[in-house]
Formats: sequence, C-alpha cells, structure tokens
Amino acid sequence: MTSDVTRRRFLLLAGAAASMTVLGPWSSSGVVAQTTTPFVRRDVGAMSASDPILVSYRKAIKAMKALPASDPRSWTYQAAIHGTTLAQTRTAWNTCEHGTYFFWSWHRMYLYWFERIVRQMSKNTHWALPYWNWSSTSERRLPAPFRDPGSELYTANRNPAMNNGTGSLPAGDVNYDPAFSFMNFTTASSSLEGTPHGAVHVDIGGWMGSVPTAAQDPIFYLHHSNIDRLWNLWLAQGGGRTDPLTDATWRTQRFTFFNEKGKQVQMTGCDILRAAQQLHYVYEGEPAQVLEQCGQVRPLTAVQFLRQQVMELPSVPFELKDEPVSIQLDMAKLRAGQGELKGAREGMMLLELEDVEAERQPGVVWDVYVGLPKDAKRDVQGPHFVGTVALFGTGIRNEGKHAFRPARFVFPLHNALAAAKDAESEQLSVTFIPHTVEVEGQSSQIHAQAPVKVGKARIIRESPGARE
Ligand code: C2O
Repeated sequence: MTSDVTRRRFLLLAGAAASMTVLGPWSSSGVVAQTTTPFVRRDVGAMSASDPILVSYRKAIKAMKALPASDPRSWTYQAAIHGTTLAQTRTAWNTCEHGTYFFWSWHRMYLYWFERIVRQMSKNTHWALPYWNWSSTSERRLPAPFRDPGSELYTANRNPAMNNGTGSLPAGDVNYDPAFSFMNFTTASSSLEGTPHGAVHVDIGGWMGSVPTAAQDPIFYLHHSNIDRLWNLWLAQGGGRTDPLTDATWRTQRFTFFNEKGKQVQMTGCDILRAAQQLHYVYEGEPAQVLEQCGQVRPLTAVQFLRQQVMELPSVPFELKDEPVSIQLDMAKLRAGQGELKGAREGMMLLELEDVEAERQPGVVWDVYVGLPKDAKRDVQGPHFVGTVALFGTGIRNEGKHAFRPARFVFPLHNALAAAKDAESEQLSVTFIPHTVEVEGQSSQIHAQAPVKVGKARIIRESPGARE
C-alpha cells in the first residue's frame, strides 16, 4: 500500500493522544465546547470477545433492540436510516448515499451519530466504534466474536462459510490500491465504493448483500468504519488529493440523523471534514489527518478534472455469468485515440462501465484484469489487476424502496497499460473472472444468482484541467 505522505503544507498533526478543543456540530447551537482527548477507533483484529469495546457493543445492541421501532435510537430505526424493507416511512429512513459523491461523507455522518447512540446505550463513556481492517492478511476472516451464535454480534443471515470461520475474503476484493491511485475525489470514491466496499458486502452476503437490510448486521458498522478510515488515508497520500471543497452542493447539502437523546440533527460536508477536530475521533495507527477547511480552499488544490472518451469497447452490451468473459481491444485504435488527445495535459486512463445491472444480488464478484498475457498467473497484486465488479447499492433491480439506479464502475489503467506496452501485442484484453469467498484458498463452485448486464464500456482519459 502506498503511504507516501508528501503534502505537508496542509498537514498538521492530529495524533491520537493530542489534546484539543472540540467544537462539535452540537456547539453551533452554543451547547458544548470541550477540551478533551479524542476517542480512538481501534482495529477489531486485536480484540478478543471479552474486550470492553465488544462487550459494550453487545450490551448496546441488546438495549437498542429492546426499544420500539419508532424510537430513533432503536436498532431497527438506526438500520432503517441506511435502508429498510419495512413499508412505512419515517424521518430519514432509506437515505443512504450510493453511487454519488456523498458516499464517503454520508456514511461518516451516519457512523458518527450511531456511535454516539451506542456509547449512550452501552453506558461505556469511552466507547468508540472499532474498524475491521480486512486488507490486513491476518484479518480476512470475519472477526471471531461476530461468529459466535450466542452473541448479539452474530446473525445467521450471512454466507455460511464466513459465519463458520472457514471462508476468507479474496485478496483482490480487499485491495484498495486501484482506488487509491486516483487523484480525483469523485473517481477515487466511486472506485473504492466498488472495491473493496461493495465486494466485501457481497462476500459477507445475507443482510450485508443488500442495502435495505445491510445495517441490521452488526459487522456493517465495522466495515464502514474501515471505509471511513480509508478516506483519511486516501487524503493523507497527498499529491493534490483533496475533498471537493469547491463544490457548493457537496459542502452544503444537509442530511438528517438523530442524536443519543433521540433528537433530530442535521449535518453538512463542511461539518465532517476533520474527524479529530470536528467529530472528536481518530483511528488507531493512522497518519496525521489532513486538516481541510471549508472556505479556505487554496487555488492549487482546486483543480478541475476533464474527462474525454478515448474509445468504446467492442461487443457491448455483454453479460457476466458463471464463466470468465474476455473482450479484446484493438491497440492501434487505443493509440490513435490517445493521439487525438495530445493537447490534454498528462492524465489518467481509466476503464468505465456504465448501465450495469442485475435483477437480484448475484452473490458473485468478478475480478477485472486488463492486458493479462495468455496463461499468465492471475495476480491481484500485479499490474494487470484493476479492481472488481461487485453489485451493491446500485444496479440491483428488485431491492425494496430504493429507487433503482444502474451501477457504474471505474478502473485505473496506468499500470496495466505500462505493463502491456512491453508485450507489443496488437490486442489488449479486458477479462472478468467470477469468484466467491475462499475456503482453504479456493473459490467454490460459481453460481451467479442473476447475470449482470453491462450496458456501456469505454476508455476515458481524466486529466487535471484549468484551475478554478
Ligand atoms: Cu450504505 Cu456499505 O453501505
């Protein structure tokens, strides 16, 4: 993983032990401003079932489940804010953001209020949400305390292999290098929403495999805690990566949640930029948080990205089912397309799939390789692996009250194209290989519950354009 923290200009230390004045969102109404140590969100991989954090989480879940569904602090209500299959509608239900540039920010707000409710309900004043660091090779299995059928952390609604501890997440599904290589916020967020985010949802399966049920599974919040941590890590890579602070809609759009008293609260992008300062938490072991400010956007960071189509893929639309699918691109055409864009400043080539959809959750994830030489070993750490196709949040037709929107996927091509250059081949292959979670290092028999239709596929160049 890249950990090249070069952009020091905007970095100030927000170390775990640093003491600071906290002006939380609740302070805008003049209620509290406190000087204190931020909560530390710890890696669940280092926790045993008797860790006070997990014991308190169980206690809170029990208490939240005992509340009526009409109480905003109840387990049902909290999960329903993300999504629900229940017919009635209540304030803020079914409001999660998927397939939009609010993906990271909405889920950060959601976790923040959920965490405060759990802290209150568990009566553990030190409680902070743990994160599941599935990219670590030692944490590919579902954390053991969540597999104990006697625990509130367990739900029978999961892929049996994940629940009995034999199944582990395939390395490609938890590889965030492709997402991290993107400079543009929206593209990076969109890429990460697919891999690892969506892939892990599909692998765990059951409730986690579908938006209207996902947040009923206690592991959901640890999965998203890690996704939220990755937002900090993506920014900390520097190199010009920045939140979309020049975008007024992203900054000011209001989202509704409930606090630990059951009172309605609202938040905007500007309220959650600096997790430690504004929301009072840090992640164990993370680098210094990038301290961005609304209203203080430096011209250097306010780069607009231009997108130009290089070529369309042949044989579109196509379907993904139980067998690998390979599409051959004409290298000459790709080169010609690149040539036409000569005027553009240096940019990134990417593969974009649009209008991707299935009738149901297929329950299968497809690894995507570009330019993989025939008979070459498939290596998800190698240059030809560009990400996965995993449907979650968008692209699934029969899913409760969520309005249907087709899914979109983006994959970075720079490594694959650099590697393919040496091969001097006239064709460039784009290959989709289905897999399931691994049991003893092997994918089991592939059976997609529904085929995935890919409506559009093209190669795009995304380049930093004029500064605003
Ligand atoms: Cu809104 Cu991972 O889901």
